[in-house]
Amino acid sequence: MKRLLLAVVCLPLLFALKSSLAYAPEQTEVMADTLCFSRDILPIFNSNCAMAKCHDAITHEEGFTLTSYSGIMKGIKAGSLSQSKLYREINENAMPPDKALPDSLKKRISTWIQQGALNNDCPTNDCDTNNVTLQKTIKPLIAVQCLGCHSGNNPSAGINFENDTQIEDFREIIACAVMHGQDCKAMPPNNVNLTDCDKAKFRIWALGTQSSVEEADYADELRIMLSPNHEELYCFVSTEMFGNTKVEVISLNGTILRTTTLSAKTNTSFSINIDGLPKGMYILKLSNSSNTFIVKFIK
Ligand code: HEC
Repeated sequence: MKRLLLAVVCLPLLFALKSSLAYAPEQTEVMADTLCFSRDILPIFNSNCAMAKCHDAITHEEGFTLTSYSGIMKGIKAGSLSQSKLYREINENAMPPDKALPDSLKKRISTWIQQGALNNDCPTNDCDTNNVTLQKTIKPLIAVQCLGCHSGNNPSAGINFENDTQIEDFREIIACAVMHGQDCKAMPPNNVNLTDCDKAKFRIWALGTQSSVEEADYADELRIMLSPNHEELYCFVSTEMFGNTKVEVISLNGTILRTTTLSAKTNTSFSINIDGLPKGMYILKLSNSSNTFIVKFIK
């Protein structure tokens, strides 16, 4: 009898195990769609809940500071929508108090909770910087990252990004803000950074060149642009100081992948073949006896 019971209990279990193994490939597909906390989730909370006098680090209404993973997790239970107080409030439109989140963003938060509410970053080698446009590339980013504060009747700094003309008017200052440049306020605020990939997209849209995805330094001295298929890296050095300059493309772990020399001082534009390098982030280094410029770019 005992044995029979065991068989009755175990056989279905074994089958379940077997079929879950058989479906292993499907699991990897699900993984590919996994949301990344830093790119997909944090900006929603930062933009819609962490404005001054709400859940920023200074005010933290009801004890919630929604500008970091640990702060957000105080109201989230991984895997459970019903036990995630923060999600329930958002889903019932109790929060944000003045305007409900769009359904697409609610859905994104629920998917992330169901995927285990991970504190994860997206891989940088998954960045498509081809065909960047205001409508298809930049506005969706602004919707998640900026609209919560820069919309409505009383937008932050008086700048309303619901209006395309305002976005266009502020093109260069937006690029400066997301790159944390010297001449503007860093945006989004609260130490929430755009991913390198999204910064690259903002730069391409605003300035036509990628330049550095990391910082605004050298933005005028050295501009870089990728050819449409990302086979060539076009470089423009705006000064003529670069005689006898060594040019290197280096991987993030320090391997020199391409190297060339610019001889004439007037040689201010050149291209480097980067066909065959896998997608991802690279360093471009220009150096001569008096100067070194280093920028990062995304292929
Ligand atoms: C949490 C609210 C919040 C979010 C999110 C936010 N901003 Fe702002 N933004 C502000 C505030 C507040 C100011 C005024 C800053 C000041 O004067 O200190 C401002 C100012 C600005 C300015 C003017 C900067 C300057 O130097 O004058 C720009 C441009 C801007 N934001 C762009 C953006 C962009 C682009 C995003 C999204 C990537 C964004 N903001 C996200 C609150 C926000």
